[in-house]
Amino acid sequence: MGKLSASILSADFGRLAEQVRAVEEAGTDWIHVDVMDGHFVPNITIGPDVVASIRKATKLPLDVHLMIEKPERYLQAFVDAGADWLGVHVEACPHLHRTLQNIKELGVRATVACNPATPLAGLEYVLNDVDMVLIMTVNPGFGGQEFIRATLPKVRQCRQMIDALQAPVLLEVDGGVHQGTIDELVDAGADIFVAGSAVFSGADYAGNISELKKHMVKKVN
Ligand code: DX5
Ligand code: ZN
Repeated sequence: MGKLSASILSADFGRLAEQVRAVEEAGTDWIHVDVMDGHFVPNITIGPDVVASIRKATKLPLDVHLMIEKPERYLQAFVDAGADWLGVHVEACPHLHRTLQNIKELGVRATVACNPATPLAGLEYVLNDVDMVLIMTVNPGFGGQEFIRATLPKVRQCRQMIDALQAPVLLEVDGGVHQGTIDELVDAGADIFVAGSAVFSGADYAGNISELKKHMVKKVN
């Protein structure tokens, strides 16, 4: 069974703690926090202080996705704020191996993320050093974008790489995940499903989450 990581990018930021508690009660497994700096991606969102406030609102794992340049400058701050998982983009890290080691030395789980157009080759030599691979299935920056189907073979190929390694590395997909796209992602071998707009649309978060979770059961071949 996969896990759902609800992206608070689609929440009402004016009542963020309440929204985090609402999706926790509605059954999400993790909370996904999208940090954007207006440089690595065109949008600007939140920083460590807001993550610290979210930390107070929930006991669920905080899955922090850094879409920022020079993420190595902020690792300590996000760990202090309460991140359980810290993800950096391969495109933002010239010394990716060192940055991932630093995340682990800080005592949290390390995620390596890659954009839709980035080949998996860039991850090959760090797969043994991460706890999770995040494959972007939209271009990072905004919620509510359309799933990019060309990323499906990449998800499948990444699954094979992880299985060949026989290491406990999770595979996360992020962007455009909803009832109409999740089956193919389950089939391609994803473990963790980030969903923002599909969770926060309308008022029935529990209904939205249970619909997604119905699809997250892997078929046994
Ligand atoms: C996009 C973010 C995603 C985003 C997903 O840059 O990384 O986590 O919130 O939103 P939806 O699920 O609406 O595509
Ligand atoms: Zn994200």
